[in-house]
Amino acid sequence: MKDLSPRKEELDPIEVASIDEIQGLQLKRLKWSLSHAYENVPMYRERFDQAGVHPEDLTSLSDLARFPFTYKDDLRRHYPFGMLAVPRKQIARIHASSGTTGKPTVVGYTQKDIDTWADLMARSLRASGLRAGDLVHNAYGYGLFTGGLGAHYGIERLGATVVPMSGGQTEKQVGLITDFCPDGIMVTPSYMLNILEAFHKAGLDPRDCSLSVGVFGAEPWTDAMRQEVEAAFDMHAVDIYGLSEIMGPGVANECVETKDGPVIWEDHFYPEIIDPKTGLVCEDGEMGELVFTTLTKEGLPMIRYRTRDLTRLLPGTARSMRRMEKITGRSDDMIIVRGVNVFPSQVEEQVLATEGLAPYYQIALHKSGHLDGMRVLVEATPVAADVLSRAAAARVLRKHIKDIVGVTVEVHVGDPGSVERSQGKAKRVIDHRKE
Ligand code: DLL
Repeated sequence: MKDLSPRKEELDPIEVASIDEIQGLQLKRLKWSLSHAYENVPMYRERFDQAGVHPEDLTSLSDLARFPFTYKDDLRRHYPFGMLAVPRKQIARIHASSGTTGKPTVVGYTQKDIDTWADLMARSLRASGLRAGDLVHNAYGYGLFTGGLGAHYGIERLGATVVPMSGGQTEKQVGLITDFCPDGIMVTPSYMLNILEAFHKAGLDPRDCSLSVGVFGAEPWTDAMRQEVEAAFDMHAVDIYGLSEIMGPGVANECVETKDGPVIWEDHFYPEIIDPKTGLVCEDGEMGELVFTTLTKEGLPMIRYRTRDLTRLLPGTARSMRRMEKITGRSDDMIIVRGVNVFPSQVEEQVLATEGLAPYYQIALHKSGHLDGMRVLVEATPVAADVLSRAAAARVLRKHIKDIVGVTVEVHVGDPGSVERSQGKAKRVIDHRKE
């Protein structure tokens, strides 16, 4: 794989500034953001008043812990525009995340917010190893989802050429990649596996294609998946993290030279890790729920937003800013099977480690008497699709999940192509328990 590390002169100075300088900027911006929210969003004013805190009470970064949390449900309750801090006419763009139940959560950006987003996406792409003049195939979905347009404007801001492909039409994706010879691809990791499959179906060796880096995010994916994709395409696979409520993609991004967890762009987002049960702030290095406060957002300031993503904060390496450990689960994705907590990513690691299985999987939950049952649906690779190989793969996977994850599961090894393919974010769990 090519060495794509950016030179220090290519970075924004704040990326490599001293911790003191970063914290000084954060404190200044945090004061502004708290006042902006308090003065312009009735919900924040009520919440702060109820908690007996005022923006002026914040004199150090740690004082933020005295302020109340904000939840996804707050956005739903104030649907569609009740949490905006500027008049709707000053909003340049709306995005929304679908969610599985109820109203979507709506977010809004001023033109300045859109500019900051493009800057941070360009910074994220540079960290991923892309630069001005590169060609980037963008297969994140365009539309209300923040992935497509968020990536699009970042690619342009970097000075690179964007191919606005969006998701779907997998064969066409392969055709365009083959014909246009992009340097980079931006797509969910699960959809990248679809593209991989389409390369094989077309009789093409993906290692011969032009891609030297993939910027993958919007859903959890493991290091085992990274190795799978890197080997299949002979390219770097880098993690990009973000969420609509805080901005969209580009809240944090891994550096290609270290690949040791996304660097949080702390000059615009202040991270905390809290104990999800008590709400108390954890030390750096401790595992808990990630909470973000926006530092510069005008349209929709978010104060102590509970992401539900579980991770820990780690010290800076390639940049001065802190990293987050690669996210392998959200509290909402946790499955409890007979008292054992299981994340889909733990199953993913075992599927990828089992010979004869393709990297596609889904988890189906059902009632088995009074107990919960879990079935792992996987598929054989074309070369190991005979009955004996399938039975052997099922045995090995069942044993590994029992020994390593700690739960007894059923394993169903289907025909090649039998597991549902993702077009964007993969649906890993199908819950039949309440049917
Ligand atoms: O998924 C934004 C995005 C688009 C990020 C493209 C990266 C690339 P939402 O639809 O609001 O926004 O979903 C946000 O997705 O809270 C995480 O649970 C999950 N997520 C996003 N990136 C990652 C990642 C976009 N790199 C939710 N690893 C977040 C694990 C991720 N989970």
